[in-house]
Amino acid sequence: MNTETQKKIAAEKATEKIRAGMVVGLGTGSTVYYALLKLGAMVRDGLKIVGIPTSVSTEKVATEQGIPLSTLAVYPTIDVTIDGADEVDAHRNLIKGGGAALVREKIIANASKRLLIVVDESKVSRVLGTSFPLPVEIVQFGWEATQKALNRVCGQSLCEAKLRGGIQHPLITDNGNYILDCHFDGIAEPEQVELQLNNIPGVVENGIFVNRADTVIIGTPSGIQYMGAH
Ligand code: A5P
Repeated sequence: MNTETQKKIAAEKATEKIRAGMVVGLGTGSTVYYALLKLGAMVRDGLKIVGIPTSVSTEKVATEQGIPLSTLAVYPTIDVTIDGADEVDAHRNLIKGGGAALVREKIIANASKRLLIVVDESKVSRVLGTSFPLPVEIVQFGWEATQKALNRVCGQSLCEAKLRGGIQHPLITDNGNYILDCHFDGIAEPEQVELQLNNIPGVVENGIFVNRADTVIIGTPSGIQYMGAH
């Protein structure tokens, strides 16, 4: 089973948890895309749900699929969110933000009674930050100073913060900010690093998600595997 099929089976498995009347958080990325297609088909078959998207790109796909959308202002509590991840460790801690949607994803995760993470098996990692740089969303003002502060805060461990897209064509997030991709040689204490990075002026949010995922659904060549309750 190739990576694309692993993504698809994980995402479609997550949609089995969606029931009529639920408010559903809609994550971002190429894995969640398959969940959006499946939810669209379920809605066209009569399932009544309301989706709350984590990005402009997800809003677009969900709208094309005919999934009714709303906001946190109307529904402050979300029943279930389906989202992807860039790296997952054995404690269900995550690195997210490869798709630059980490701020809205963390807000939606925080408002969710249940967070289902869907990944292919390449995302599973022994130590976070060893296979994927940590995305950190920062405001544009004084970004060079924020970059220096980020490089410093990592202390002994390697941390090199690179502006996503480069200075000529920096990526601008849905919130009008920049992303610094921070290359670590492993994040041994993700809970501390998550708090430490958010304490730097200029940092809006970082892509470490600790103790937030209830279930990780992993598509593997031999089928579905789970971490956490299912
Ligand atoms: C979006 O900002 C990310 O957090 C995505 O959820 C993550 O990058 C996973 O994306 P893929 O499913 O495309 O790998």
